[in-house]
Amino acid sequence: MTVSPLTPTDLARIRADFPILARKLHGQPLAYLDSASTSQKPQQMLDAMTSFYSTSNANVHRGVYTLGVESTDAFEAARDAVAALLNAPSRREVIFTRNTTEALNLVAKTYGVQNCGPGDVIVSTVLEHHANLVPWQVLAEQTGATLRFLDIDDEGNLQLDALDAIAREGNVKLVAVTHQSNTLGVRPPVAELVAWAHALGAVVVLDAAQTVPNRPVDVQALDVDFLAFSGHKTLGPTGIGALWGRESLLADLQPFLTGGEMIRSVKLERTSWNSLPWKFEAGTPAFAEAVGLHAAIDYLHAVGLEAIDAHEHAITDYALGRLTEVPGLRIIGPQTAAARGGVVSFVLDDVHPHDVAEILDRHAVCVRAGHHCTQPLIERLGLAATVRASFYLTTTEAEIDRLVDGLLDVRRVMGV
Ligand SMILES: Cc1ncc(COP(=O)(O)O)c(C=O)c1O
Repeated sequence: MTVSPLTPTDLARIRADFPILARKLHGQPLAYLDSASTSQKPQQMLDAMTSFYSTSNANVHRGVYTLGVESTDAFEAARDAVAALLNAPSRREVIFTRNTTEALNLVAKTYGVQNCGPGDVIVSTVLEHHANLVPWQVLAEQTGATLRFLDIDDEGNLQLDALDAIAREGNVKLVAVTHQSNTLGVRPPVAELVAWAHALGAVVVLDAAQTVPNRPVDVQALDVDFLAFSGHKTLGPTGIGALWGRESLLADLQPFLTGGEMIRSVKLERTSWNSLPWKFEAGTPAFAEAVGLHAAIDYLHAVGLEAIDAHEHAITDYALGRLTEVPGLRIIGPQTAAARGGVVSFVLDDVHPHDVAEILDRHAVCVRAGHHCTQPLIERLGLAATVRASFYLTTTEAEIDRLVDGLLDVRRVMGV
């Protein structure tokens, strides 16, 4: 079934829920085109957190008094919401973390350290955000395992032709890949990688920071082994994210951090660990943020993740078309909207991306400039930096038009 993108009426209704969109910068309405960095927040999410703090705030898993019970129930209900969002087989498989970065580090420092050693191979790709690259570098250094990166073609499409050679290098233990590049918007062939990895007995770690916010993500259909995402990119607050992992794998792991809720009993000589998922949640968790994330997930369901995906696709198609009207602009990555998400990187003649972003800011158009925490990818593409515009459920064609007008002004100001 093809889902229709959001209608102009839907968009107007959705945009009215985001108070920050009423803000003006330099006398002009805000055009926020940086959702890949962090999403803006709907009033429903803000209200949920304010209401929680105003009525039910108490630490979780400790108090037997009413507030503590309410707060614990709200925290654990948020876990159920994440489990349902990801179609996780069990709520025990959902571990709250601070963000995607912490979730990926958790896998490296637990599963990775316990399972990798000399003669083993860890596989990642040049597309990765540093959060899905540096932990594997450190893991390889710590354990003596070999780290290999899959390359891309000039449009950013992942090349799988090196897989056979990599498999001959040793025991492939772990494959870490992004579900969608935060710099190019390209979506790697995860199904092929999963089939290859599982045939070799390796696990697949999926960085879903750029997809959980905007399309249905189903861990069972994907058949990955671990998946990470961030609340702040998903209409939720900062300070909360989640790791999903197969229970059969999580059950055998030693804890990541120690202290607080992750214990069952402590004696001076030795400590035993709590059951899943709390074994991996040391210290007071971000429970108010979990309530916010729950409200954000409810909001996403109310709009419909299929509809958000269809909208991003349509708006990206529109943006790719309009951007080609700017002389000297070169899109980096896939040239069509078919195989990509709502992230468009580009360069404009010899103008430094920071100058582009700075001049666009005078038009109240917010875009990101730089390496987007993907330095190896930017280097692989032979660039120093790009400008990146990224879209979400609030993005309108009028905002894209303002981006294009702003870029024409950049050309005038910079004399190119
Ligand atoms: C693909 C991808 N992975 C990981 C991250 C890291 O997310 P966080 O900073 O929330 O940990 C990001 C953030 O931009 C990202 O886009």
